[in-house]
Parts: sequence; structure tokens; C-alpha cells
Amino acid sequence: MKKNSVLAPFIILATLSLPTFSLAAGSGKQHIENFAFSFEGPLGTYDETQLQRGLKVYTEICSSCHGLKYVPLRTLSDKGGPHFTEEQVRVYAAENFEVFDPDLDDYREAKSTDNFPENIDAGAPDLSLMAKARAGFHGPYGTGISQLVNGMGGPEYIASLLVSYTGEEKEEAGVTLYENTAFPGGWISMSPPLYGEDVDFDDGHSNDLHHEAEDVAAFLMWAAEPKMMDRKYTGFVGVFLLGFLAVLLYFTNKKLWAPVKYRKTA
Ligand code: HEC
Repeated sequence: MKKNSVLAPFIILATLSLPTFSLAAGSGKQHIENFAFSFEGPLGTYDETQLQRGLKVYTEICSSCHGLKYVPLRTLSDKGGPHFTEEQVRVYAAENFEVFDPDLDDYREAKSTDNFPENIDAGAPDLSLMAKARAGFHGPYGTGISQLVNGMGGPEYIASLLVSYTGEEKEEAGVTLYENTAFPGGWISMSPPLYGEDVDFDDGHSNDLHHEAEDVAAFLMWAAEPKMMDRKYTGFVGVFLLGFLAVLLYFTNKKLWAPVKYRKTA
């Protein structure tokens, strides 16, 4: 009995420290690079040509496994987005995608009024909301301080994921896994989709691995939050009006109380 009570604090300590050690090991491995995106900061905006390049990477590489089923094709002509002409979007949709039409009971060329198709063939997750679903700058166990300073880091996570393959592979239960230092757990079942020089950009921009990854991540951020700039603008107007109101209230307050404050007491 006595022996047990002496040991108790040690047992409690040991049980408490066990999960701490394993968490530290898990989160310490994941490395997210901080990319400088044009849309960061309170006044940041999407870079139209970068979104166009990112769309090209998505179309030529990622779309063979990943869908974007929540993104309407017509939004590709939106101002603040890739900003193509409506005619360009019509041609792009028809040339690149087929959708199932229940009225025809068959597949037909996609139109601007359709969404990007879903793609479940490769067991890959839909990318429509991925840039918002993933956070780069705080693991599940972080304090949130880094997140406050650097933002959520969704696009950083995606770009880092694409450039962080080590080249190591292993087979597990018949599935090939690829070592990736940005992926939680370190091993992902997606084979490296980009190596550099995978697409040719029409604007002559560099197509090395780093730039391709950055561009497609920016495009996916836009896909997940196309109205980010409107939101920032509204926030800015709000802050400005509140500031103005604060100044007005200050002077109103002064004026209202002036007779009381400076009353002659004699
Ligand atoms: C050959 C098929 C294939 C291609 C091509 C492909 N992916 Fe994947 N991707 C997958 C699969 C499968 C998974 C699920 C991996 C897992 O959970 O282990 C995945 C997962 C992901 C994830 C989610 C990782 C996470 O945190 O769960 C992202 C982001 C991603 N892919 C981005 C891309 C981008 C961007 C491209 C194009 C540059 C691309 N993928 C091309 C098959 C593919």
C-alpha cells in the first residue's frame, strides 16, 4: 500500500509525458516553407497572370486525379480572378472537360455554366476548398501565435507539399508511399506530380518546380476563396468608418461636457 503511494506521482508523470513526447516527434517533422504570395496582408490582391498560370498547371497536371467540383467555370472570367474573356472560358471549358449530362444520359463537352468536374477515379481529394481546409503554420498542437503572424498558410502548405518530396519510396499494404517532409506523418500516397518544366507558360514565366508549385497554390487559394479581395475591401471601409466615428465621438464628448468641466465655481 505504502509502496504504491510513493510510486503514484511518478506513474502520473510518466503517463502525462508520454503523449507530449510523441506529439513533439510528430509535429517536429513537418516543414512548411513561407512563400510570399501577392494576396497576403490587408491590401494584398490576387495576381491575375499568376492565377492563369496556376490554372494551366491544374488543368494539365492535377486535374487528371483531382476534381474542383464546387468551382463554377464561369468564375474564370471574374475580375479579381484569372479574368479571362467569356469567349476564352467557353473554349477552355469545351476543350478540357467533359461532364455527365443527365438530360442526355451521356457525357458532353463542358460549358461555362457548368462547374469543374469532380474526379474520384484516383481516390484523390477534391481541391475546391483544400487551400482553406489545410493550415500550414500551426499544427494541431500549435499555440496559434505563428498563425496570427503568418496567416493560416493553406496555400503555403500546398506549395510546400509539392516541393518537399525527398525521392524515398516505400510499399505498405500494396500501396506505394512517397516520403514528403511537408505532409503530416511524412509519407503520402500521391506520387510527385511536379518535377519542374512540366508545363510551358504562355507569358514566358519561369516553369521551374518552385514557381509551378507557387502558381498552382495561388490558383487553389483563389478557387477556395474567390471573394477574398472584396472581403478585405469591406473590412477596410469598416475600419475607416469606425475610425471616423471615433474621432467624431471624441469631439462631441468634449463639446458636450465643456460647460461642466470649465464651469466657474466662484
Ligand atoms: C496521379 C494522381 C495525382 C495527381 C496527378 C495529383 N495528385 Fe494530389 N493527391 C493524389 C492522391 C491519391 C492524394 C491523397 C494522398 C494521401 O492522402 O496520401 C492526393 C492528395 C493531394 C493533396 C492533399 C494532401 C493532404 O494534406 O491531405 C493536395 C493538396 C494535392 N494532392 C495537390 C495536388 C496538386 C496541386 C496537384 C497538381 C500539381 C496534384 N495534387 C496532382 C493524387 C494525385
